[in-house]
Amino acid sequence: MNLPPHLGVRDGHLTIGRHDCVSLAERFGVPLYVTDEQRIISRYREYRDALAAYYPYVQVLYAAKANGNLAVLRTLAMTGAGADVFSSGELVLALRAGIPPEKLLFNGNSKSIADLALAVEKGVAVSVDSLDELHQLDRVAGEAGKTARISFRVNPALEVPTHPKIATGLATSKFGIAHERIPDAYREALACGNIAPVGVHCHIGSQILATDPFARACRVMIRIAGELTRMGVALEFIDLGGGLGIPYRHETEVAPTPADYAAAVVPIFRDGVEELGISPQLWVEPGRSLVGDSSILLTRVNSVKKAHRTFVNVDAGFNLLVRPVMYDAYHEVVVANKASSPGKETYTIAGPICETGDLLASDRLLPELAAGDIVAVLDTGAYGFAMSSQYNSRPRCAEVVVSGERVSLMRRAETVEDVAAAMVTPDWQK
Ligand code: LLP
Repeated sequence: MNLPPHLGVRDGHLTIGRHDCVSLAERFGVPLYVTDEQRIISRYREYRDALAAYYPYVQVLYAAKANGNLAVLRTLAMTGAGADVFSSGELVLALRAGIPPEKLLFNGNSKSIADLALAVEKGVAVSVDSLDELHQLDRVAGEAGKTARISFRVNPALEVPTHPKIATGLATSKFGIAHERIPDAYREALACGNIAPVGVHCHIGSQILATDPFARACRVMIRIAGELTRMGVALEFIDLGGGLGIPYRHETEVAPTPADYAAAVVPIFRDGVEELGISPQLWVEPGRSLVGDSSILLTRVNSVKKAHRTFVNVDAGFNLLVRPVMYDAYHEVVVANKASSPGKETYTIAGPICETGDLLASDRLLPELAAGDIVAVLDTGAYGFAMSSQYNSRPRCAEVVVSGERVSLMRRAETVEDVAAAMVTPDWQK
């Protein structure tokens, strides 16, 4: 199987960075998420350098929702990344990781007054999603004696080739303000006492394996930037969102590289802003394409059952990786302790959750499997642990990070006591 450069096979075992996955499973226990820090750093640099080759003022904002572990945020903070944060929690963790407030954008279609107040207090720009939110933010900023820096989230009404649940820029989607109403929204913002409109933002969808949709979105944003500039809005940034996909099917899918993305999008951006006589920063918000392939999920085989198909029952299910059941997503699997053995039988990898849909992978040709084998699910760095749950009262697993020779926990495994920790006994049950 085609493997990304940080994965390999040594003595029949799958490796991540310099580390043997079977040894990691033995040392830290399973299930286990393992992340390669160096892979994240090199993906970030690839992005930054690709964009900067065409335009000098660029800022990569990591989409913290993809993997919100503080160690991952810290890695990206140290390399110079900003962050797209979608909740107060993501905002607090991004700041704690050392990302400065001016490199953050608080996104989201449904922010509370407390969310808005936190953004104002910390001096974080807000991507405003509705006029109602605009006026709430104006009030909140006024009460704090501050000015809130904002962009509006543009709904560009673009159809994009991806799963409908993660196409975010459709005319019918819940996100943003329709592109034709955007000038009116900025007019309203300019009339507010405590609002400074300084940017404009969009996001068209996720797991997009072509560059053309991004080029189309960029053209829409340049047109809008022209309208706003003529209205007197001084744009400090134009944020084109994230969305570049990764090749989950290693044999057949090809994903555009950050260099392909930059070549398709940034010249349109650069020529557009030059023509307008402005030089705003170009912001992008990649999540999946920065961290997606940096992690694997290691899970142990509990039992093998021959039925109408051969099920391999493992100890991780959609409690730890919801993407297969939620989006019919495909993830490659490798038997970590038999990584050089040829495929022998067709297996379906089933999780331990009490639902028929709890399958991590269906009908895969794999080496002969037995209880105790370690199965690695690949490309789980984005929206993997981040979307995990404690369903079936299963404690969430540990996460480990490797970096060169080094290896460390970045999250300990939960215990059943952690599952119970926030539960409260009503008085009458005491
Ligand atoms: N910016 C905004 C405003 C977003 O809504 C998103 C993702 C991103 C950036 C990052 O997009 P990315 O570069 O990762 O495609 N849980 C789903 C993906 C949901 C994406 C939602 N928004 C999945 O597992 O496929």
